[in-house]
Amino acid sequence: MELPFAESWKIKMVEPIRKSTRQEREQWLKEAHYNVFQLKSEQVYIDLITDSGTGAMSDRQWAGIMLGDESYAGASSFFKLKEVITRLTGFEYVIPTHQGRAAENVLFSYLVHEGDIIPGNSHFDTTKGHIESRKAIALDCTIDEARQTQLEIPFKGNVDPAKLEKALQEHHSRIPFIIVTITNNTAGGQPVSMQNLREVRNIADKYNKPVIFDSARFAENAYFIKTREEGYQDKSIKEITKEMFALADGMTMSAKKDGIVNMGGFIATRRQDWYEGAKGFCVQFEGYLTYGGMNGRDMNALAIGLDENTKFNNLETRIRQIEYLAKKLDEYGIPYQRPAGGHAIFVDAPKVLTHVPKEEFPAQTLTVELYLEAGIRGCEIGYLLADRDPVTRENRFNGLDLLRLAIPRRVYTDNHMNVIAAALKNVYDRRETITRGVRITWEAPLMRHFTVQLERL
Ligand code: F0G
Repeated sequence: MELPFAESWKIKMVEPIRKSTRQEREQWLKEAHYNVFQLKSEQVYIDLITDSGTGAMSDRQWAGIMLGDESYAGASSFFKLKEVITRLTGFEYVIPTHQGRAAENVLFSYLVHEGDIIPGNSHFDTTKGHIESRKAIALDCTIDEARQTQLEIPFKGNVDPAKLEKALQEHHSRIPFIIVTITNNTAGGQPVSMQNLREVRNIADKYNKPVIFDSARFAENAYFIKTREEGYQDKSIKEITKEMFALADGMTMSAKKDGIVNMGGFIATRRQDWYEGAKGFCVQFEGYLTYGGMNGRDMNALAIGLDENTKFNNLETRIRQIEYLAKKLDEYGIPYQRPAGGHAIFVDAPKVLTHVPKEEFPAQTLTVELYLEAGIRGCEIGYLLADRDPVTRENRFNGLDLLRLAIPRRVYTDNHMNVIAAALKNVYDRRETITRGVRITWEAPLMRHFTVQLERL
């Protein structure tokens, strides 16, 4: 008999979690104004709000914590981190920051100016925020197929080369760089192929523009290249990683994802001029250059995390758990962005709650229902998150309306996946009875989803 698949780790430390009653959850969610960001973590049984900073560190990483060098300048922990980053990416210059958006802030302070246009594939919210706050434009050049949730293609996170080339022809002088997000979070944790990265590089070279990778989930992207793209089956994740980054000039990194640390980030680049230009902003916003926004101990843990998480076994364990959950949803007929992504399942809410009008926020309604059903906290990536049009102040209903179930790394077991799938099935089975959604009673002008107050209709 062939042996079944099992995790490439065993568990040394556990954290108790607590179930609640439906009555308790009704009360808590009402107090939270039907916004799951306003819940206390003790009120959550299985927390899928994000995979960012929520992973479990290994015993090696915890050992690294004890050996952290907290020297203000020249800490050995910085050089350890820098050595790993350079070995993995080929980038010689490294600036640590406290998280991914801080890396964006520091680098974009140097590179982005009013009137600029930055093409890319579904810029993450904070990336977009750091572009738009500088009165520049984030131009989405993702392939159209990414919007069809039921279409199954291997690299749904790709940049559309035709859209990118058109942008460069039309706005050449206004484009300081191209940014590619690997994996493409907003499109559903979907990977970008090596071939696509190569195409982007060729177009960039043709127009003499640099390329940045937003690399939060680069290791998961490398895993998909290895398992889905021809010619990469026999290459190691580290070899693929090196090959990917050879196609970029630099990277911003939220280390809270594929670095498997609770807090941290960095900029890395091969361009000395970028390093020289950005370093002043690091000192101004983050800290001195050999710690930026990080503790020495955290730089140690990150160095070890990056090395571990670019090993095939770790990634296989991770991605197969997402696939496991996806298979369960397939069994129950629940529609999600296909194929399953690297860090999450994105349920296509309007396809589930067909009676809830878009004005009543189907994905938020589904988020509410799932929490009430089982204390599982997902996150709306949809019409609420899309905010209003800055000019017309109308809600933006033109994108997808998804419930994201982000799976923290090395935290939950497949039994938890079974609970998630069953809870979702229970909601799905009574979908015909869910005819009304939620209404906004208070909202902030920007990034409203974190603080929005809602009522159930
Ligand atoms: N880029 C991508 C692709 C991200 O997914 C995130 C964060 C960031 C940049 C910003 O990094 O949080 O360290 O400042 N994504 C989290 C999420 C918050 O839940 O998807 P950060």
